[in-house]
Amino acid sequence: MSSRLSFPDGFLWCVGTASYQVEGAADADGKGPSIWDTFSHVSGNVLHDDNGDVACDQYHRIESDVDLMAELGIPAYRFSVSWPRVQPDGKGRVNEAGLDYYRHLVDLLRARGITALLTLYHWDLPQALQDEGGWANRDTAYRFAEYARVVAAALGDRVALWTTLNEPWVSAFQGYAIGRLAPGIRDLGAAVKAAHHLLLGHGLAARVVAEVAGPKSQVGIALNLSPVSPVTTSAEDVAAARRLDAHLNRWFLDPVLKGHYPAELLDECLRLAGGDFLRDGDLETIRADIDFLGANYYESRRVAAAPAKAERGAVPGPSDGPTYDDWLGIVDRRREDLARTSKGWAIDPAGLTELLLHLRADYGDIPLYVTENGAGFADYVDPEGHVKDTERVEFLRGHFAAAHAAIAQGVDLRGYSVWSLLDNYEWADGYSQRFGIVFVDYGTQQRIPKSSAYWMRDVIAANAVDID
Ligand code: NOJ
Repeated sequence: MSSRLSFPDGFLWCVGTASYQVEGAADADGKGPSIWDTFSHVSGNVLHDDNGDVACDQYHRIESDVDLMAELGIPAYRFSVSWPRVQPDGKGRVNEAGLDYYRHLVDLLRARGITALLTLYHWDLPQALQDEGGWANRDTAYRFAEYARVVAAALGDRVALWTTLNEPWVSAFQGYAIGRLAPGIRDLGAAVKAAHHLLLGHGLAARVVAEVAGPKSQVGIALNLSPVSPVTTSAEDVAAARRLDAHLNRWFLDPVLKGHYPAELLDECLRLAGGDFLRDGDLETIRADIDFLGANYYESRRVAAAPAKAERGAVPGPSDGPTYDDWLGIVDRRREDLARTSKGWAIDPAGLTELLLHLRADYGDIPLYVTENGAGFADYVDPEGHVKDTERVEFLRGHFAAAHAAIAQGVDLRGYSVWSLLDNYEWADGYSQRFGIVFVDYGTQQRIPKSSAYWMRDVIAANAVDID
């Protein structure tokens, strides 16, 4: 027997993208290079050496993309602003032509009644700032606040929801420790510093947005969060799970919402990065009053304790050297009972309910948004021209129901942004992963809404999801 799960009135359904992943126009109208322009052009960094020079060409197709959203009944669009479009050198001079693009985008959305969710930083740091150390350099936090002021002054009256950073864990640790993403550095100490400076930048920018963007705008941050469980109840496995949780989740949640770093990793991180990166007053700055917390949820993690074979703090290196997991003292234990997406991520909707309940239990009643959830699958256009992504429909159905279960247990979840509107540039995986509810034919730039887009249109219209 099927039943219908209704969402609260005003629940904000949304779809998301990010500048480097969809815009293309890599050097149009005065844009400066970002770390992704640099990184993606180094052979071997990205699958098939794909880059975002053209991507979905949204920069030149923004009118028709917004029209498409309107046709699909999408009430809100989460996009990010490319910092080097606005400030080609990462500081100082403002490129008005770059800002105009976002003014135009926001106006197009407004004209169609689509709410704007703006992310200030989704990984495309101006290369000029990387040349001075990037996020490992404290100065970048202050430059970020300056950039936030420029964007807030230009768009503050027209954007309802602002997030400072998208997934700072990924920026810091994938970018500076694991090195799989731009800027491709492998130095744990630098990663710890980068994480801190990202958080400092968040605190500074959140205050700037609150001050400049007008009383109707709200500001928050989007963190990648995964519930972590131990594979057994042994003290070692439980401790390993706590370490990963402290590193991945609480290292960002605690300073932002409570004004301190998790005690169990603090000494280790101070040792790695040198104590002087953490200065008096930083944690007060980071704990800015924010209006909401965004959770990007893709999968849960299950881990066991690793035998302590590597020196803790050793730089995660090439395949025969110590790995990042060695540093954390964990081994991932795959859930064989769960199906996987094309990225290899386990599909675990129950993990979303668990995450949302944990957030409320540990951090109180701060309004929450799911700022990202979605999946890559091997989608294709069938001979009739349709893209029948039934796996994605079932993925989203399960996760929407999981979000509903959290709401039913009292979680103040205000909205849900599906990743992504379009198939797009999936970072080091290039164009090999299709996350969109709309298929993109990269040869022609044709957009083909998948079954999931039509299914979502019905969910949005009913503000409810049907389950079996
Ligand atoms: C997280 C990131 O914010 C987004 O850029 C990425 O494409 C998706 N997850 C999928 O990996």
